[in-house]
Amino acid sequence: MTMTMTTKPKSPQKKVKFLTYGCQMNVADSERMAAQLKKIGYENEEDAGKADLVIINTCCVRETAEEKIYGKIGELLHLKRENPALILGVVGCMAQKEGEKLIKRAPHIDFVLGTGKAAGLNETVTAAENKSRAHQVNTEFADSGDEFKSFARFYPTEPKVSAWLPIMQGCNNFCTYCIVPYVRGREYSRRPEEIVAEAETAAKNGCREITLLGQNVNSYGKEYADTNFADLLRRINAVENLRRVRFMTSHPKDLSDDVIRAMQEGEKICEHIHLPLQHGSDRILKAMNRRYDTARYRELMQKIRDNIKGAAVTTDIIVGFPGETDEDFDKLLDFIREMRFDAAFTFLYSPRSGTPAATMENQVPEKEKKARLTELMNLQNEISLEINEKLRGEVLEIMTEGESKNDPAVWTGRTRTNKQVLFPHGAEKAGDFIKVKITAPQTWILKGERLAEQNG
Ligand code: SAH
Ligand code: SF4
Ligand code: F3S
Repeated sequence: MTMTMTTKPKSPQKKVKFLTYGCQMNVADSERMAAQLKKIGYENEEDAGKADLVIINTCCVRETAEEKIYGKIGELLHLKRENPALILGVVGCMAQKEGEKLIKRAPHIDFVLGTGKAAGLNETVTAAENKSRAHQVNTEFADSGDEFKSFARFYPTEPKVSAWLPIMQGCNNFCTYCIVPYVRGREYSRRPEEIVAEAETAAKNGCREITLLGQNVNSYGKEYADTNFADLLRRINAVENLRRVRFMTSHPKDLSDDVIRAMQEGEKICEHIHLPLQHGSDRILKAMNRRYDTARYRELMQKIRDNIKGAAVTTDIIVGFPGETDEDFDKLLDFIREMRFDAAFTFLYSPRSGTPAATMENQVPEKEKKARLTELMNLQNEISLEINEKLRGEVLEIMTEGESKNDPAVWTGRTRTNKQVLFPHGAEKAGDFIKVKITAPQTWILKGERLAEQNG
């Protein structure tokens, strides 16, 4: 008796390439999309030329971001010509903002999925594979946050020493220059038990550092009676095997004393806070609808420095907001001198249509904006260098990350205060905690050497 066994040929592995722009939120979202796509047979691929699916995860916070992305979409046309079966999807904030317009400008795009629709990615990709729907565009917002919450559950489970953990979505603040509330929708928070469970899984898989993410983490949990951000920090601090907990971004108007206390008490919570100031003139802060003034910011800074030993504070600043005069700009420079930030991300104001500031009078001419930006950057660079110079000769603990960009013999790691340290590589593995002596501080990085004798 003969038996013929027919084995189905194994379907070849499908490959997806992600091109991710914008903030850490987008980086975290791309990871979750990749985890979701695994369920329908996609593996990550580095080379877009070998991919069956290319997903561009987009940002629209400034015009320059959008221009860069439109350029990239144009470039991908040649891949589509070489491989007509290639599926090209655009997701994220600019997908939300532009919708149909993207397909009109670039008809080689197969689908556009808005920020509230990421949970439906697999369904959209499957329809594109089957060619059952040409040019799918879906940018609807659900008003419950349920889509976000179910999307957040697709988290990557591969071992990773440092993980991004989104705790909330959206923004209710409507700063007058900012497009984020329009493209990310209202604020919704995940349940704390779910966040803790994810952190525990990550820690079991070897994760040592977690960064909690949200546009405004200080207003985490507003829709629940039984939690808030300070409570969440305490719960994450208690997760076994984690060594470091970070979070971003904090809004000064919502940073509570209890959060500062949780940072002070939680031994894993790193002494770093990113606290965007945006401007140093009260008149401009008011026009930006930031809902704090320099006095309140100064008070917060004092509390942070009084209670969290060695805290590093970094910030974001916008120059050239409509109506910014020389006098306002001088106030900003003075305030920067007074606050002494460890680092500042400085941006030229970029008008975003649909936001109140875009139609305000007295837009600052481009030339003036640029001159002010240069002056601000020069001042901040001096301050950053002075602060880092004080670390010369100090011994700091860093978590090693891996090879530096330019030289495989030089590795990078971070201090608890989130400063990047470059050091000659020995036998370290990514995720090791080692002590380094800072030998050459610079404006943006510190150079150091591993101490010869140490454990762990
Ligand atoms: N939710 C975060 C920031 C998100 S956007 C917060 O509130 O801090 C990141 C930074 O981009 C902002 O802090 C701001 O400095 C900058 N930004 C936002 N809109 C901008 C615009 N229209 N032009 C220039 N910079 C902008
Ligand atoms: Fe934009 Fe302001 Fe919300 Fe930050 S807090 S995302 S700057 S609107
Ligand atoms: Fe950009 Fe969206 Fe983040 S607009 S900065 S990717 S929230």
